[in-house]
Amino acid sequence: MISPVDRIIVPLDVPDEAQALETLDKLPKVKFWKVGLELFVSCGPAILQHLKEREKQIFLDLKFHDIPNTVAGACRSAAKYGVDLLTLHATAGRRALQAAREALIEGARVAGVEPPKSLAITLLTSLNSRDLAFDLKVPVELPEYALNMALLARESGLSGAVCSPQEVEQLRRVCGQDFLLVCPGVRPTWAETGDQQRVMTPKAAIEAGASYLVIGRPITASDDPPSAFARICEALEGV
Ligand code: C5P
Repeated sequence: MISPVDRIIVPLDVPDEAQALETLDKLPKVKFWKVGLELFVSCGPAILQHLKEREKQIFLDLKFHDIPNTVAGACRSAAKYGVDLLTLHATAGRRALQAAREALIEGARVAGVEPPKSLAITLLTSLNSRDLAFDLKVPVELPEYALNMALLARESGLSGAVCSPQEVEQLRRVCGQDFLLVCPGVRPTWAETGDQQRVMTPKAAIEAGASYLVIGRPITASDDPPSAFARICEALEGV
């Protein structure tokens, strides 16, 4: 069984290196950190180096989306950093996803590190069914679309997908036990929901089939981040 502390990924949702280091110092027990676009664009790979020096696991959430050749190049470069998880948009299509997979293996081999696990973004949760139907002109229901995108990612050899806790049970059933499912939108009962609309508790999300949980503000914006993290870990003990 995976221990709770290994399942919780905390996003470094801060604008610069100094604030990122402050957050890392505040939460020494967190083992897995997510670096997104804001921080990576601001301070580049230096942040990954800091995380490596502290022997942390890294989820590089840059959501690549481009033609196969460009996605492959970005994946080859990212793999060299020795990150553990990485995201790309499933809507880049089958050829881009397959090229990404091969490039991750190749980049990691050249650098002598393990290849990152690749996660598909099925559909941004900021998009609702109205956006899908009227703006994007996609003629299928939103849950079916997200599921199809996850299946496309699996068929193309990706390791998993990012999904909302509401989708996790169905995706786990359809995509099988080996597919990684990473869920943001998780809130302990004692935390504010903030702008997350459809939330689930950490325990319920893991029981529904999530492999990892991305939990930010309930930990980072709490008055006492280390005890908020400890409290969430406790709630997952034995799950
Ligand atoms: O603070 P909070 O727990 O809401 O942070 C969740 C993290 O997961 C943020 O970094 C957010 O950008 C990310 N995320 C999300 N919903 C998605 C994909 C990523 O909240 N669908």
